Amino acid sequence: MPTILFLEVCINNDLRHTTKIKTKISTMEQVHKFVKDLADKHGRVSESLLPIIKEVVNVEQGLPDYYMKEIAKELDLPASHVYGTATFYSFISTEPLGKYVIRICKTITCSMHGKYQVLEEIKNQLKINVGDTTKNGKFTLLETNCLGWCHKSPAMLINDDVYTDLTPETVRDVINYYIEKD
Ligand code: FES
Repeated sequence: MPTILFLEVCINNDLRHTTKIKTKISTMEQVHKFVKDLADKHGRVSESLLPIIKEVVNVEQGLPDYYMKEIAKELDLPASHVYGTATFYSFISTEPLGKYVIRICKTITCSMHGKYQVLEEIKNQLKINVGDTTKNGKFTLLETNCLGWCHKSPAMLINDDVYTDLTPETVRDVINYYIEKD
């Protein structure tokens, strides 16, 4: 069942214009309505699947299985097809993630330039391990493959923002910024 989440969602009557409102996706009826609105916006063809998944992930920070079932029903696709598409893309989680998703590069150049020390600092600061979400739901810590910033390694993403040339000191400041941010 959906968890109770208070979210800032870009939504409006027909989803063609975006207005930020606070909404609460806490019931299956709301999940159903959200997916239906996205299908109205993107269409009910197989090409609509990825844009719909992306919009759900933007809101939920993941793609829980009840969303996959709802999307499959709405687009008349097998649930296995939705699951296969979602899991093909490593940036789409099938579990709900924190509000801020930290993805630290685990590939060799970053590993050679201090990634382990940076990761240890994040783990100590947030008191979580890789793959975990903080109890308040604010942060999820993940590792990812090369982000394309090897020349400025080590690198990480927090949601869509890139942070490079990290050291334990600079990453501490970055994480503190997000701890204080809403
Ligand atoms: Fe880390 Fe390329 S190896 S960004």
